[in-house]
Amino acid sequence: MNIIILSRSAALYSTQSLYRAATMKGHFVQIIDHMYCDLLVKNGKSKVFYNGYELQGIHAIIPRIGATATEYGSYVIRQFENMGVYSVLKPDSLLKARNKFTCLQILAKNGIPIPNTATTNYTEDLDVFLDLFQEHPVIIKLLSSTHGEGVIKSDTPEVSATLMEAFLNLKHKILVQEFIKESSGTDIRAFVVGDKVVAAMERRAAIGEFRSNLHRGGSSESIRLTNEEVSIAKKSARILGLQVAGVDILRSNKGSMVIEVNASPGLEGIETTTNVNIARSIISLVERNSKFRL
Ligand SMILES: Nc1ncnc2c1ncn2[C@@H]1O[C@H](COP(=O)(O)OP(=O)(O)O)[C@@H](O)[C@H]1O
Ligand SMILES: [Mg+2]
Repeated sequence: MNIIILSRSAALYSTQSLYRAATMKGHFVQIIDHMYCDLLVKNGKSKVFYNGYELQGIHAIIPRIGATATEYGSYVIRQFENMGVYSVLKPDSLLKARNKFTCLQILAKNGIPIPNTATTNYTEDLDVFLDLFQEHPVIIKLLSSTHGEGVIKSDTPEVSATLMEAFLNLKHKILVQEFIKESSGTDIRAFVVGDKVVAAMERRAAIGEFRSNLHRGGSSESIRLTNEEVSIAKKSARILGLQVAGVDILRSNKGSMVIEVNASPGLEGIETTTNVNIARSIISLVERNSKFRL
């Protein structure tokens, strides 16, 4: 097959891992930076150009779209889909998952347990808004953050109001969420490919930190999920229309809850922690789902 990996850099672990898995299975693979793709719709026909060359004869794309490229990345994926190319990631699924509040709204509507979460758009009555939470600390999150960077624990309503005022005045969208204290700096990353959880790890935050992201210095180990967690993870991915998803789960006193679903989950942490060749599962998924047949 003729496969394109959409990625900002060929040097990234996930890109390398997918490239290796695909070439080992005999596919022809190109790594293309989606931010340098030109998109043309001419007389109703969709085309993609890269460095002035038209990309043709492509059977499948594997998008790896970072948080800063969500919108343009979705245009590029949709363009390929309009050309009849199979994409592992649907543009609408990317957009839904990338907004943490939209994502949680969709999950909650479909019966997936999530922490109590609220959002607001104005700063005049923040004390009234914060009364929605009977307890502090709360978690304040930028809706489009990743790697734990826009996730803050606030200990008092005064600090929460000040932070929210600052973010909203800067036109950053945020959510406020109950703090799941009993998860004590750990979370679970369940990695879904197709209709299976292919690997799972528990991440533990560094000392003095509540965010368990590996990018924040967290450590990780393989973990066995409960049947309920497997089913929550698979259902979360299915509801969002994601064939590949990193589902983040917190174990709370009220049961396991989903805090976010990653549409372009990194492979490095999960592959090195669990020794599962996830890239190979993704290439098998592409082989099963694309229309291309030898
Ligand atoms: N409601 C919460 N209660 C306790 N810890 C949380 C909560 N939300 C997030 N965290 C911690 O912060 C980390 C980052 O939050 P997450 O929503 O996954 O955002 P990101 O996209 O930055 O990874 C989580 O992995 C978890 O350790
Ligand atoms: Mg996360």
